[in-house]
Amino acid sequence: MSSVSHADIDKQTVTKAYDRWAPVYDLVFGAVFERGREAAIEAAERVGGRILEVGVGTGISLRHYSPECRLCGVDISPLMLRKAQERVSEYGLKNVEGLWVMDAENLTFPDNSFDAVVAQYVVTTVPHPEATLDEFARVLKPGGEIILVSRVGAEAGLRRTLEHWFQPAVRRLGWRTEFSFERYTRWASQTGGVRLIERRAMPPLGHFSLIRFTKEGGETRSNDSERSSAAA
Ligand SMILES: C[S@@+](CC[C@H](N)C(=O)[O-])C[C@H]1O[C@@H](n2cnc3c(N)ncnc32)[C@H](O)[C@@H]1O
Repeated sequence: MSSVSHADIDKQTVTKAYDRWAPVYDLVFGAVFERGREAAIEAAERVGGRILEVGVGTGISLRHYSPECRLCGVDISPLMLRKAQERVSEYGLKNVEGLWVMDAENLTFPDNSFDAVVAQYVVTTVPHPEATLDEFARVLKPGGEIILVSRVGAEAGLRRTLEHWFQPAVRRLGWRTEFSFERYTRWASQTGGVRLIERRAMPPLGHFSLIRFTKEGGETRSNDSERSSAAA
């Protein structure tokens, strides 16, 4: 598992940033990230069972899961989570087991608790992404899936230069622009028992990806072998 290294982003800044975003988050980021959320939910529903959404935010995805899925949600921002709680009441979502203020890097759930761990637009906002992925793998049952939708930084060219340039400013808004896909593949290769099974470009502009890992040791689900070769 990963050692925690110096972070370029800090938790307090991120919490404050998302507390400020909470009243307008859905308006600003609702439609723009919709396709990615749909893809993550489709993937999670194929796994089914008990699902943890990390960085659940305003709970914008919750009512779109099948009622058969049992949902738990965590977020570091109390004001984002309050919106999620209001949504659960508003839509009478009986399949939501609970919502907790919790740090993705220090989940308080026991090992092997969930069939899927979903994190949409979250991994690039945490101080220690690899340690956070370690936590996702720990709470995931063998055979389960980590399902991410995440920004992937450009490897070269003008976009890479602009991302580098904008990084200090966007950090204060609560995320990173620079984040190479290689960080995911390196994490998987250094972490025993997890395997990348899919990477698929997502809008806007293909700057985001749906990224799926499986935790080995359980039954193989869906068309993992096909997708695995596409991800390689
Ligand atoms: C860009 S928003 C994504 C929200 C939602 N998943 C969506 O699809 O719109 C990132 C979310 O991650 C949460 N977050 C950031 N750092 C976190 C951490 N260390 N632990 C838990 N949640 C965190 C933020 O508070 C925010 O709600």
